[in-house]
Amino acid sequence: MAFDRGFLDELSARNDILDVVSRYVQLKKSGSNYFGLCPFHNEKSASFSVSPDKQIYHCFGCGAGGGVINFIMRAEGLEFPDAVRFLADQVGMQVPEDHADPRAARRRERLLALSRDAGRFFYDQLWAPEHRAEQEYFARRGLVRPVMNRFGLGYAPDSFSALLDAMTAKGYTKEELLDAGLVSKSEKGHIYDRFRNRVMFPIIDLRGQVIAFGGRVMDDSKPKYLNSPETTIFHKSRNLFALNLAKKTKADYFILAEGYMDVIALHQAGFDSAVASLGTSLTEEQARLIARYTKNIVISYDADGAGQAAAQRAIDILKRTDLSVKVLRIPGAKDPDEFIKEKGADAYRRLIEASENHIAYRLDAIAAKYDLDEDEARVAFLQDAARELARIDGAIEREVYIGRAANMARVSVDAVQVEVKRQLAIRLKKQKTAERREIRAPISAAQPRDRTLQYPDVRSARAEEGIIQLVFTDETLLDYLEGKLSPAEFTAPVLRKIYEYARTLHREGHLVTAAACEGYLEDNELSHLALLLGEPVTAMRREQALDDYINTIKTQRARSAAASDSTGEDPLEAFARRQREKKSYGGNRV
Ligand code: UTP
Ligand code: MN
Repeated sequence: MAFDRGFLDELSARNDILDVVSRYVQLKKSGSNYFGLCPFHNEKSASFSVSPDKQIYHCFGCGAGGGVINFIMRAEGLEFPDAVRFLADQVGMQVPEDHADPRAARRRERLLALSRDAGRFFYDQLWAPEHRAEQEYFARRGLVRPVMNRFGLGYAPDSFSALLDAMTAKGYTKEELLDAGLVSKSEKGHIYDRFRNRVMFPIIDLRGQVIAFGGRVMDDSKPKYLNSPETTIFHKSRNLFALNLAKKTKADYFILAEGYMDVIALHQAGFDSAVASLGTSLTEEQARLIARYTKNIVISYDADGAGQAAAQRAIDILKRTDLSVKVLRIPGAKDPDEFIKEKGADAYRRLIEASENHIAYRLDAIAAKYDLDEDEARVAFLQDAARELARIDGAIEREVYIGRAANMARVSVDAVQVEVKRQLAIRLKKQKTAERREIRAPISAAQPRDRTLQYPDVRSARAEEGIIQLVFTDETLLDYLEGKLSPAEFTAPVLRKIYEYARTLHREGHLVTAAACEGYLEDNELSHLALLLGEPVTAMRREQALDDYINTIKTQRARSAAASDSTGEDPLEAFARRQREKKSYGGNRV
């Protein structure tokens, strides 16, 4: 664990989960819990819940769950230590960095230092006299040296061990090079440089640290770009290329481009708020990250079909934040890099000014599919457009675009209005049915079923769950369990891990809470725990309940031991028996 437990206990105590979540989600009280729309997935009815008593949140829709630190990790796209610092800041607590787990922290520091040194190595290689051709490559693409330096561009030599040798000479181990994603391992266990004969684009995080690389070939070979894999210091869905620079911009908008080269060309042309997602389509975390720094975003993707399809997906994701989204269109089949090189920065600025609100953009995209000089096509266009218009939530905005669509198809506004109303009614009806379904669905059906799937012995695991629920309600029960049930007797690995940790916490004098497990349990394990703790626990005769659970666990254990001993049982028969047992478990526990 990276931080002192006592410090984390106080941090969780001073950051009440209800206060913290309320800054992100509008919550309504219902019973002892609060409900709202889940900030982690797109939904129309509230399946996200917060329990102030247990200091946990849980979403019945997407399954996310945990305590306040985990919530901040997801909401702000931060790693555990940064989420802790974030929360400490909020309540003015000093983070005791000295108490940090020296090993994990040092390992991380080493990987960051290694990435920085690798970046330095690539940079030095690029500017070595023998690599004129590589310098030429960038020059040919119009980049000037100060901009190349601002982005720390470099070159990975055409060798299987140049970086490996240079870095091991500096004292880094092969393990560290592997962990940083800088070398690969062959099937025979041979270690070699991952990036060879490629121009290199360092990926730099918000704190200015090199965390990964993209490397491009200089000819037409494939793959065009090779990127670092996910590592402990690099999560590509949580970072954006050039965000470290863009966050300092004075512009009141960001530009979202597709490629490394687009972003660099944009910065060189003076558009210092350009960023790009990293070789994948935009993620929700990236959208939230952008929304922290700006209110307006202009999507500037490639003009080709793939780029336009990606823009549509990006619109959908960006609309889930508060960002106002516009889409820039480049005349002629080009990307921003090529456009600027050909037409200049002023021409591009005019494109930004002419960029359309995403709805207008959508309408244009729909119109492009039809020949609006033909009557039949105009009818089809209107139906298509009405479906889009019915998705606009604001009535005034909807009116504006209804007028626009009418104009495009040269029909009366009334005609469009009638069609939009019809679509709205359909949409509303669908929504209602979906909501009705969702209200019943989440608690009863969706979750419990998938959670039992990972249990090797469902009957035993149900009893193990009951034990976890009880000891997290009243930790003194752990004393009662001492000597009666050991973690080794748990059949479900996740439950065993939780039980074991609960005992450690209790032994060391800490509260046994979900919050105390943050930073120790993995995300999915924490969600699992939050789900269990969200269920009601009987208040009566707890020791008796524990005895029953222990009894079940021991009986199941004896049974499975007998089953594996008896060579007599036909494997098919055993399988059928297990299935019957699973079915006969009705789900109504306690
Ligand atoms: P593009 O092919 O549009 O690249 O891919 P680009 O930036 O315009 O490249 P140039 O101008 O030919 O140099 C857009 C982005 O998709 C990712 C990279 O992040 C790239 O910048 N990508 C593309 C990959 O990760 N791997 C690939 O093989 C290709
Ligand atoms: Mn390009």
